[in-house]
Amino acid sequence: MPHIVTDNCKLCRFTECVESCPVECFHADDEQLYIDPDVCVDCSACIPACPVQAIYEVIDMPEDKEPWIAINAERSRTLPIVIAKQEPLPTAEAQRAKLGF
Ligand code: F3S
Repeated sequence: MPHIVTDNCKLCRFTECVESCPVECFHADDEQLYIDPDVCVDCSACIPACPVQAIYEVIDMPEDKEPWIAINAERSRTLPIVIAKQEPLPTAEAQRAKLGF
């Protein structure tokens, strides 16, 4: 089962997940990352790497996060690949606190 980036990534984009990924499955827009389900090798290394628990394996997705499965597949198709860690967004620490992490 592929892995999915959900809305907890929005306004954070810590990109720790990219460093843990053995393949090039992460794509980004200005707000967050998305995983290409055809490239993800299901290793789960990115799940504990994310400081705001934004990533789930499909099989463990909470029901309210399920729309993100299609969003990741669609958005990753056209957005550029991210292959290295980047600076988190300027809003990241405030958003992390707001999310309770
Ligand atoms: Fe987003 Fe978490 Fe990665 S905030 S960029 S999914 S480390």
